[in-house]
Amino acid sequence: SMASSSSQQVPESPVYSEEGYADVDWDDLGFGLVPTGYMYMMKCSKDDEKFEQGQVIPYGNIELSPAAGVLNYGQASLCNGLFEGTKAYRKEDGRLLLFRPDQNALRMKLGAERMCMPCPSVDQFVEALKQTALANKRWIPPPGKGSLYMRPLLLGTGAVLGIAPAPEYTFLVYGSPVGNYFKGCSAPLNLYVEEEFSRSSRGGTGGVKAISNYGQVLNALGRARSRGFSDVLYLDSANKKYLEEASGCNIFLVKGNVISTPATNGTILAGVTRRSIIEIARDLGYQVEERDIAVDELIEADEAFCTGTAVVVSPVGSITYQDKRIEFRTGDGCVCRGLCSNLVGIQRGLIEDKKGWTIEI
Ligand code: COI
Repeated sequence: SMASSSSQQVPESPVYSEEGYADVDWDDLGFGLVPTGYMYMMKCSKDDEKFEQGQVIPYGNIELSPAAGVLNYGQASLCNGLFEGTKAYRKEDGRLLLFRPDQNALRMKLGAERMCMPCPSVDQFVEALKQTALANKRWIPPPGKGSLYMRPLLLGTGAVLGIAPAPEYTFLVYGSPVGNYFKGCSAPLNLYVEEEFSRSSRGGTGGVKAISNYGQVLNALGRARSRGFSDVLYLDSANKKYLEEASGCNIFLVKGNVISTPATNGTILAGVTRRSIIEIARDLGYQVEERDIAVDELIEADEAFCTGTAVVVSPVGSITYQDKRIEFRTGDGCVCRGLCSNLVGIQRGLIEDKKGWTIEI
C-alpha cells in the first residue's frame, strides 16, 4: 500500500516572487503540470467501505504495491481507477470559487458503483477539494490568468492477484495551475473523425470517468495530431455512424436556434460543463436537443464546439470525415462565444450566480 505521509517526498520550500503567490509565470500557463505544494489523501479498506482520516499532505510521489488493483486492470475493469477534473478560480476580491464540485462527487460515485469501488461521500469529496484549493492558494492564478485544475483520483491500491476488487482504496486530490487546454487559446479546433478505433462501447465504461477511457484514445489522438489535427472525434462503436465525443471533451452542433449534443446513453461522458452549457443555452432561449447525431448531419451545422472542464468551451473550425473537411462559422458573434462568456463569467464570479453553482471558500 501507499507510504504514510511521514515518508512522502517533501518538495523544497517554494519561492514566492510576490506576496501570496508561488513563483509561476502566470502569463505563460498552458495545460501542463505545474506541481503545487500539497495534495489530499484519504484511504478506505474494503472491509468497512468507509473513507476516513483524510488529510492534506505535502505533494510528492506515492508508493504502490506492484499488485495494486489499479496497476493490474488487465485482469478486469473491477480493479480500475477513476478520476475527476474541477477548477478553483480566484475572484477579483481574493476569495476562491469552486464550480459545481458536488457534480464531480456524484459522477465519481456512479463510476465507483460501476467499478465495484467504495467512494467518498459527496461531503467528503467537496471538503477534500476545498482543503486542496486552500492549501494550494498560492498556486491559484491571479484573476483572469487561469485556474487551479484539481484532479481527484480514486484508485484500488490494495494488492490483489485474482480478479477481485482491491482490499484497499485511495482517494487523492492534487492540483496544477492551468491556462488554456489547447495551444493558441481561442483558435478554432480542427477535429478528425476516427473510424478505426472506438472510445467506448455499449455496456462498457464510456459513461463514467474511468482512467482506461483516456489511455486508449492516445493512439488515435497521436495519429490525428501528427496530421495537424487538434483532436479526434469518436463515432459509436457499433454503427460508426453517430457522434460520441472527442478525446477529453463533449461535442455540440449549432443550427439556427437549435443546439444539439449526443445523448448520454452510457457511452458518452456526462460532462459537468456539458450540462451547464445546456442549461445556460436554454436560459438564453436556444432549443437544446440531446439525441443521437449522425455524422452526416455535420454538413448542415452552422457551428460546432467542444465542452469540458479542461477545454471550457472551445470553438471547432473544421471536422474532417473520410477526407472531406467540413468548415464551421467561428469568431465574433458566434453562439459558442456567448455561451462561453456566460459560463466563465459565473465560474470567475463576474456574473451573479443565480443557480447556486459556485461555492465560495
Ligand atoms: C477535464 O476536462 O477535466 C478532463 O478530465 C479531460 C481531461 C482529458 C483533461
